[in-house]
Amino acid sequence: MKILIINGPNLNLLGKREPGIYGATSFEAYFEDLQSRFKGQELEYYQSNHEGELIDKLHEVGFSYDGIVLNAGAYTHTSVALGDAIAAIETPVIEVHISNVHAREPFRHHSYLSKNCKGIIVGFGLQGYQLAVSSFTEQDS
Ligand code: DQA
Repeated sequence: MKILIINGPNLNLLGKREPGIYGATSFEAYFEDLQSRFKGQELEYYQSNHEGELIDKLHEVGFSYDGIVLNAGAYTHTSVALGDAIAAIETPVIEVHISNVHAREPFRHHSYLSKNCKGIIVGFGLQGYQLAVSSFTEQDS
């Protein structure tokens, strides 16, 4: 299966950014681990801090890939355009958040994306990405 993980703004700083909330592991290190767990799969990773670039990437892969795992960071709570992009493509999208957004500030409780996603995984740390990827690959087997 061809699966793309997309991380949005500030997630390039994982490992350095607020480690009490997001942990001490960089996404690059975690992604290597993930690729070795899912050896038979084509697993790719993209990160951008820019809303339009995230939308362009969804359009680019969203008619050919088998699954997208998206952590849109703070755009989750602000971006009607990202929600529309998910609705516009054919590839199913799973929304992931490292932290339990529902245990945090009220502005993090609402997502413009969830309604158009296949499912949501929240609050499991980096393991959330693995859970999302296996939900695609296990449905395949
Ligand atoms: C986040 C939660 C968002 O509220 C926040 O803006 C992020 C990260 C998470 O993974 O927990 O940047 O998406």
